[in-house]
Amino acid sequence: MTTANLDSLAQLKQKIDTREARIGIVGMGYVGLPLALLFSGERFKVTGFDISADKVAKLNAGESYIVRILPAMIQEAQKSGFRATSDYTEIEAMDAVIICVPTPLNDHHEPDLTYITGTVASIAPHIHQDQLIVLESTTYPGTTEEIVAPMLEAGNPHGLKVARTLGEPGVHVVFSPEREDPGNDTVARRDIPKVVGGCGPAAAELASALYGTIFRRVVQVSTPSAAEMTKLLENIYRCVNIALVNELKQLCMRMGIDIHEVIDAAKTKPFGFQAFYPGPGLGGHCIPIDPFYLSWKAKEFDFRTRFIELAGAVNIDMPYFVIEQLASALNNKSKAMKGSKILVLGVAYKRDIDDLRESPSLTIIELLREKGAIVAYNDPFFPTVGQGRHYALNMTCTPLDNLGQYDAVVIVTDHSSYDYRAIVKESQLVVDTRNATKGMDSAKIVRC
Ligand SMILES: NC(=O)c1ccc[n+]([C@@H]2O[C@H](COP(=O)([O-])OP(=O)(O)OC[C@H]3O[C@@H](n4cnc5c(N)ncnc54)[C@H](O)[C@@H]3O)[C@@H](O)[C@H]2O)c1
Repeated sequence: MTTANLDSLAQLKQKIDTREARIGIVGMGYVGLPLALLFSGERFKVTGFDISADKVAKLNAGESYIVRILPAMIQEAQKSGFRATSDYTEIEAMDAVIICVPTPLNDHHEPDLTYITGTVASIAPHIHQDQLIVLESTTYPGTTEEIVAPMLEAGNPHGLKVARTLGEPGVHVVFSPEREDPGNDTVARRDIPKVVGGCGPAAAELASALYGTIFRRVVQVSTPSAAEMTKLLENIYRCVNIALVNELKQLCMRMGIDIHEVIDAAKTKPFGFQAFYPGPGLGGHCIPIDPFYLSWKAKEFDFRTRFIELAGAVNIDMPYFVIEQLASALNNKSKAMKGSKILVLGVAYKRDIDDLRESPSLTIIELLREKGAIVAYNDPFFPTVGQGRHYALNMTCTPLDNLGQYDAVVIVTDHSSYDYRAIVKESQLVVDTRNATKGMDSAKIVRC
């Protein structure tokens, strides 16, 4: 039995080496789709699974729904056999399955694992011996071992177990976090080392072989939990440091010091300092959410993650701080917030991307409306903003002209296509939350 299983593992490794391995990626979103393209680029035949019939139809028609992924890239992948489906029976034909579904928070700020459990319940009946199953969705330590592995074992009709020792028959289960930084073109995707933690040694080896085809370096850790914690440490590190500069920004403003000048000077230190920048609040699917996965899990161990809570409190306050600064700037012009015409520039959560999940702009627009302001927005990536899990704006993008009509223009996202000099020139008042007007000297600018 043991020798036979070692042979079948060698066969799977060989299939990876020869690019014959079939790869299924579940969740064709911001993480899953680029990953599918990377594997297709290495000549693997990739099948993308998604519950959205619309996404499946678009991908099969060679179209894209993510701005930075061009239709030509999908069409190129199709030449290697890429296609999309919602039919989970096709999981049976896959040698490796990689799960990239959302991991949001519920209304009580607790982990919502329903996308993961829904996916695992759907694939479990179709898994087979020696298949590699990888979870990439960011989650708390223990998810792979305590939820994914038992569900796969209970949900398959063949009595398959998760292989935990070398030579043991079963499926190979791994956690490997996604480390993408959307909009960051300075590091090529394949130069971002890939961390893997397997339920058993064969799982880690197989995942390393597979990811080694698209990433220059694979870093193995001893368990899935260690890999899950690695991802959270990275994101919490950012969250805490952003909170630190957001707090120091507020102090610097009171003291008449420019925080950006300070950060620029501090980052000249060649060791022991990494620059983080203040802003209008956290956004995206990761940094505002992931730390709470850990603080929730920590409670099971009677542990309070105080850094996470403090950073969360500072960062959550930032949109409110922007509103205060805007109100004060209007007040200086003898204007009230109520009835003022305000243009919000940028609804994406960060520069040059088409993602508005958890964007501070959404909170800022809602707060402005609550205060009776007449709000418009402009964002080259969003012709409309409708309704999401936590907001209902239902707005249409306003053209970037006649800026003089607004009592204030608030720069929330510093898209690089904006001409900031022209914006300052044409506007009555500019509230800049991103230092986009750096180097400009005008009494119209309020930096906060
Ligand atoms: N976006 C990022 O920059 C980023 C970076 C690192 C990690 N992550 C993590 O990666 C995971 C995925 O994030 P994303 O940004 O790609 O999310 P996304 O919302 O862009 O994509 C998720 C996709 O999964 C599909 N889906 C949901 N349930 C499904 C199911 N049961 N079966 C098949 N498809 C299903 C959705 O239709 C959607 O297309 C999250 O855990 C996130 O925290 C995201």
